[in-house]
Amino acid sequence: MSELLEDIVAAMMSKGQGILAADESTGTIKKRFDQIATENTENNRRDYREMLFRTEPAMSDNISGVILYDETIRQKAKDGTPLTELIKAAGAVPGIKVDMGAKPLAGFEGETVTEGLDGLRERLNEYYELGARFAKWRAVIAIGEAMPSSNCVQANAHALARYAALCQEAGIVPIVEPEVLMDGPNADHDIETCYDVTEWALNTVFSELYQAGVLLEGMVLKPNMVIAGQKCAEQASTEEVAEMTVRCLKSTVPAAVGGIAFLSGGQSDVQATENLSLMNAMGGLPWTLTFSYGRALQQAALKAWGGKAENVAAGQAAFAHRAKMNGLAATGTWSRELETA
Ligand code: 13P
Repeated sequence: MSELLEDIVAAMMSKGQGILAADESTGTIKKRFDQIATENTENNRRDYREMLFRTEPAMSDNISGVILYDETIRQKAKDGTPLTELIKAAGAVPGIKVDMGAKPLAGFEGETVTEGLDGLRERLNEYYELGARFAKWRAVIAIGEAMPSSNCVQANAHALARYAALCQEAGIVPIVEPEVLMDGPNADHDIETCYDVTEWALNTVFSELYQAGVLLEGMVLKPNMVIAGQKCAEQASTEEVAEMTVRCLKSTVPAAVGGIAFLSGGQSDVQATENLSLMNAMGGLPWTLTFSYGRALQQAALKAWGGKAENVAAGQAAFAHRAKMNGLAATGTWSRELETA
C-alpha cells in the first residue's frame, strides 16, 4: 500500500522547511562547474551532491525534499550508501526530475515546449522503486516581442497536466512548474508584464489540470515570483514583488492546492530569501508558501567548495547558512541582520 499523496505533500510542506533543487542535468551542472573551474565528471558530481546531502543539521532542520537527476537517484556516496538513503536519513523526501528538457516549439521561433511524456508511466514506476515520492516537470515561458504565444502557453500547460496525472497514478506527487523567465533572452520586461503572463500561464495550467482530473491536494505548484526581467531598467521593490506575487497567486491558484514552492529563477540569494519572507510575513495565505531553490540555495556553497575535497566543510557551512535563512523565510521570520549574525 503506497503512501497517500496528501501525506507526501504534508511532509514536503513541513513548517520552516523547503526543497533543495539539485536536479541539474549533466549539461546544466557543467555550466555551474565551469564557474569554479571544476571538471564535470561523474565523481565530481557525486562528491558535490554528497557534500550537500550530508550537511547537518541543515538537511534535517530546513530541507523537506531534494529533487534529483536521473544519474543522482542511482548514485552511491563514496562509502557505498545510496544518495537517496542520505536524504531519507535526514528526514527529507527524495524527488526526481522527469522532464526531458525544453525543446524548440515548431513554428514558434524563440519558444519551447517541454518534452518527456513518451514512456513516462514506465519511468515513474521505476523511480518509485528507486525511492522517489515526488517528481518535477519544468515548463519554460519566455517573454518577448509577441511572446509568449498562446500556442506556447497552451502546449506547455497541456503537457504539465498529462505529466501530473501520470505521477498521481504512480503514487508520486507532481511538482507542476510553469516558469515565466526573468532571465530569458530579452528579459527587459517590466513587473506588470510578468504579472499578466504569469496570470495567463497559471489560469491555463489550472484549467488543464482540472480537465486531466489532477487531485489538487496531491500536487505542489512551483511558480516564478512576479518580478521585472533582469535587464529591465526599473526594478520593483521587495514590497511590490511580494504584494503582486501574492495577488497573482490568489487570483489563479485554488486554495485546495497542496502547497506552493517558488523557484529562484536568477534572483540573488538574499533577494530570493527576502521576497519569500515578506510574503509569509504578510500572512493571510490559503496555502503554505516555501522555496524550491536551485541556484539561490547552492551558489554560495558551490563557490566555497570550489571542487576541492579540503573545502567540503566550507561548502557545507555556506549551504547550511542559506538553508537556514530560507527556512526562516518560509515562516516569515527572516531579517537582514541574521545574514551576518
Ligand atoms: P532555480 O531556483 O535555480 O531557478 O532552479 C529551480 C528549479 O528547479 C528550476 O527548474
